Order: sequence, then structure tokens, then C-alpha cells
Amino acid sequence: MKPRIFKIDPHNIDLELMKQAVSVIHNRGIVAFPTETVYGLGANALDAKAVAEIFRVKERPLDDPLIVHIAEVNELYRLAKEVPFKAEKLINRFWPGSLTLIFEKTDLIPDLVTAGLETVAIRMPLGAIARKFISMAGVPIAAPSANLFGRPSPTRAQHVLDDLNSRIDIIIDGGRTEIGVESTVVEFADEEVVVLRPGAVTVEELREIVKDVKIFSESESSEKSPGKYLKHYSPRAEVILVEHVNQFQIEEVLSIVADLTKKGRKVGIMAKQEHEEQYKGFIVKVLGPEQDDRTSASRLFHILREFDSENTDVIVAEGIPETGLGRAIMNRLRKAAIN
Ligand code: TXA
Ligand code: MG
Repeated sequence: MKPRIFKIDPHNIDLELMKQAVSVIHNRGIVAFPTETVYGLGANALDAKAVAEIFRVKERPLDDPLIVHIAEVNELYRLAKEVPFKAEKLINRFWPGSLTLIFEKTDLIPDLVTAGLETVAIRMPLGAIARKFISMAGVPIAAPSANLFGRPSPTRAQHVLDDLNSRIDIIIDGGRTEIGVESTVVEFADEEVVVLRPGAVTVEELREIVKDVKIFSESESSEKSPGKYLKHYSPRAEVILVEHVNQFQIEEVLSIVADLTKKGRKVGIMAKQEHEEQYKGFIVKVLGPEQDDRTSASRLFHILREFDSENTDVIVAEGIPETGLGRAIMNRLRKAAIN
């Protein structure tokens, strides 16, 4: 059966439809819903059986822990054993919002949610529909991004439908998500705040609130966040990333494209707005102006999916500067480009 799609205006939330969606949660079901970052696939975080369904539907490996979403800061103190001072500072500044923090978990959280870890990832989203949904549910909501495992995260209800279709009952369609890349995930180690996944809250913003922010380097350890080395966020097309630091970026893109085209492959270019003209005659999609990382973030996953729907074989993507949201964008592109 096709899922029911509830179109909901975030500025004028239809409480009747929300009640129906919430009743699915109370019956141990799962619901796709929009947050300000990407769409999530939610279930009651306190119910292992409901959570198991998320893993099954998404084909997500059981060793990849979920984020628990809450609607009130108070909820945190039931779910986390201890809240470090630095976490409180970050929460004051960034919640509700796109920052996920890792805490030692209490026994309320089933092991399945955290993939057996003693820690749990928690965030209080900003999106109006997400907040209303969680508060009406009256329970914390465990939710990964609502894509099939490994695919680009969904920023529109249509993306959820394309990936999950009849595997789910309800999609709350709140339109395009505002930010378009996932939340930033941080943990607390001694005196430091460690960024495990760069995301919608930038490192620059974090550093305005706490001094010692370290960016976790994936080459240092593979244990911290399970599944770190895996290819991820990937369209079906092969992705080739041409780094921004290369002063010959345009020439390199053109030469790769020429080469692949000769081999008979259908190639698409994802380019900065400033370079669009240079690629005349090829299939080009504009990520955004180089300095406008918000636009680029909001378009990234949709563009990757669009290339797929046009049966592109290879996407040649221009790298962008790794500042602000550019850091999250480049992190996703690097993972998409792993073979
Ligand atoms: O913006 C977002 O964060 C979206 C929306 C729906 O909230 N959610 C999302 O969830 O992106 P997901 O499951 O796709 O990514 C969660 C990330 C994974 O990289 C996972 O490894 C990490 O959070 N994570 C979860 N629990 C963790 C833990 N206890 N320790 C370390 N990393 C954890
Ligand atoms: Mg995900």
C-alpha cells in the first residue's frame, strides 16, 4: 500500500492530521516527518520494538545508532545521566536547533537506539512541524534521516517516497526542509568539544560559544562513530569530486567530462554558479554561489537525486571552500565519492 501523505503547512499546522500521525507512533508504527535539516523517520524512542522497525525499513545496519529527538529541554535530564557544563552552554545557544549532543544514557533508552553504546545522541529540532509532532507524541522520537541506508538524505517528501514508498504508512509533507544538510553531532571529551559529524551548526558558530572545539579526524580512529568509513549520502551515479584547492578546477572538470563522455557515459556537472558559463554545452546543475553556503546546502541532496532521476552515470562535482556550511557539504561529497 502507498503511504498516506499529510500535507501540512508549518505556519498553520493541521492538528487533526497531526493527531492521526501521532496515533501511529502510539501504535508502535513509524512516521516520516520534516525537521529544519532533513526529513526524519520517527518512532517512539522508548520502545525497542518500534525502533526495530526503523532499522528494518531503512535497511540500516544495527551498529549505527539513532538520534533521539525531544521537544522540551527538560526531557534531556531523563535521558542523559550527566549534562556537562559545556553542553549546557551549547544547548542554551543552539536548542531548539540543528545541534546533536552525545551524553551518557540512562536506562530509559533501549540498547537498540544506541547500537549498544553507553551513550545517546540527543537533539531538540527547530522545525515547527517536528516540534509539534514530538510534543503531541509525548515521548522522545528516535529518528534517522528518512532515506534508504547510504542514499542522500531527503529534503522533500518526494525523496522519502522515492526511497521508502510502501514500506511506511505516513509521510508528513511540510515542503522543502530549510537547511538541507543534517545536524552537527558533537561529543564531550575531557575539556574538549569534539565534532563527530560537521553539519548545519558550523564550527565557527560553535567556537563563538566554547573555546576548545576539535574536529574529529576520521583517519585517527574508526571506532568513534560506527560506519564512518562507509560510502554514504550517495546517489546511484558515480561521484567524482574535483577539489576546490586546485587552481585548475575548471580545466580538470572539463578534462574528466571529456574523457567520460568519450567512453559513452552520461555525465553531469555540479558547479558553482560562478563557473556555470564555462560548462556551456554540458549538463550542469548549479549548487550555488561560492560565498552562499546556505543556498548550496539547501540544494545539495536534491541535485544528487535529480541527476539520478535523469539516469546520469557520473556526477563530476566541484569542491567548494570548507568554511561555514561548506564543511558539511564537502564531508557529504567526500563520502558520496568513495568507491
Ligand atoms: O539532522 C539530523 O541529524 C537528522 C534529522 C532527522 O534529525 N538525522 C540524522 O540522523 O541525520 P542519522 O541517523 O542519519 O545520523 C545520525 C548520526 C550518525 O552518524 C550516527 O553514527 C551518529 O549520529 N550517532 C548517533 N548516536 C551516536 C552515539 N551515541 N555516538 C556517536 N555517534 C552517534
Ligand atoms: Mg542519515
